[in-house]
Amino acid sequence: MTAIESEIGKNRSTGPSVQDLLVADSRQVPLSLTDHSYVSQGKADVPKLRYTSHEFAALENEYMWTRTWQMACTLDELAQPGDHVVYDVADQSLIVTRTKDGSIKAFHNSCLHRGTKLRVEDGRVASFRCPFHGWRWDLNGELAEIPAQWDFPQVLHESDTDLPQALVAVWCGFVFVNLDPEAMPFEKVADKLIEHFGRDFDMENRYKAFHAVKEVPANWKVCMEAFAEGYHVIATHPQILEFAGDTNSEYSIWADSPFVTRFINGFGIQSPHLGDLSEQQVADAYLAFSARSARGSVEVPDGSSAREVVAEIFRSVMGPIYGKDLSNVSDSEMLDAHLYHLFPAFAPWAGVGQSLTYRWRPGPTPDTCYMDVLRMMPVPDGQERPAPAPIQRLKLEQSWKEAEGMTGLADVFEQDMANLPKVQLGLKITAKNAKKGVSFGLYQEARMRLIHRHIDQCIIDGLNADHRDVSELTPFITPPG
Ligand code: FES
Ligand SMILES: [Fe+2]
Repeated sequence: MTAIESEIGKNRSTGPSVQDLLVADSRQVPLSLTDHSYVSQGKADVPKLRYTSHEFAALENEYMWTRTWQMACTLDELAQPGDHVVYDVADQSLIVTRTKDGSIKAFHNSCLHRGTKLRVEDGRVASFRCPFHGWRWDLNGELAEIPAQWDFPQVLHESDTDLPQALVAVWCGFVFVNLDPEAMPFEKVADKLIEHFGRDFDMENRYKAFHAVKEVPANWKVCMEAFAEGYHVIATHPQILEFAGDTNSEYSIWADSPFVTRFINGFGIQSPHLGDLSEQQVADAYLAFSARSARGSVEVPDGSSAREVVAEIFRSVMGPIYGKDLSNVSDSEMLDAHLYHLFPAFAPWAGVGQSLTYRWRPGPTPDTCYMDVLRMMPVPDGQERPAPAPIQRLKLEQSWKEAEGMTGLADVFEQDMANLPKVQLGLKITAKNAKKGVSFGLYQEARMRLIHRHIDQCIIDGLNADHRDVSELTPFITPPG
């Protein structure tokens, strides 16, 4: 597939492009990685209010989070009938469970008597019994018991007594839910994700080896956007410039699958910001950082590259850890960050060397959010699927370093986290002479513009459906162009 180009956003960084790196790969690269595309998303400033306003957060909560596909849990967490995960988002709550016949259902987590939340924790139950007066539903969501049922003839005879359900889709071991009964099918929304992972990346055979969720002091979009570009590396993670292509990362937007985007950050090359480094210097810096070998202990032969050499070391070190033969896996899959994004807030990494998946949800106010980090490790060849890791929950004031098993990733995350409250506070500065919008890069941050546009479309559709005035959205709209 050839890149779509347009006038706006035509400029690119110096340094090799990701596609150049793929051409030089020592192995055959997956077709999905060469499938790249860019569609201009305009150049107008995006209003700061979108990140800070209670009114806008309320519109998102009412019309975006209730109309989009969101990853609720992994299938492994629902191994047995009655296993359930409580998925909370923007005041809504679902009980996602496995029924006796093995199917997955998502019930609204609200008692049909007086509204009590039926479950506040994940676990395994034989039925869902309300803690208040004891109304009870079986795993299929059918009413099984009402204490003193003589007092509720109207409920039994005149209303639907089943727990209402949300839509459910299962993809690559993840369970997705959608609160909108008329939502576009998951298969359509996730089109490019399904195509790429189905053909080239074996997510199905991964299991959840690590999961932490943390409340973060910033709007969910601020936090999500902090993980969606390589542009911030120069100021936020300068320690990786010697071996990370940052401004020459690749960002894809596909016109025919607009809810899926991708960011590829090449590793094992130097940043274009630095003066010329030798392949040896790049390899030394990369290996020292990744703790795979001591600085200076590995030689890059003439005619070879840091990428080739480091990828080979990663294959030999990770192969036994993963219980896999990685000899045919491309350098790119061993080294690079291939971060897909499914609107609104699900981001799985492809590739072998990286195994993370992110999720974001809004917090109780526009100034906080929840970010989940999952590590999806390959199931070792010939072994049974390990049980999924329990969820570690970190409070606002806690550090990612407190999550057991986060390893060296926590240090990099904490660098990102240090920015976020400053961003959130700075976005509130909108007094008379202050700048009112954020100025996204035309290429590196184009995906953010697209995501904001999708949010607006959800809200407009919702307002229209409710016969509300769409001008409610006006203060938050990015002007065209
Ligand atoms: S509120 Fe659930 S049984 Fe009364
Ligand atoms: Fe970062």
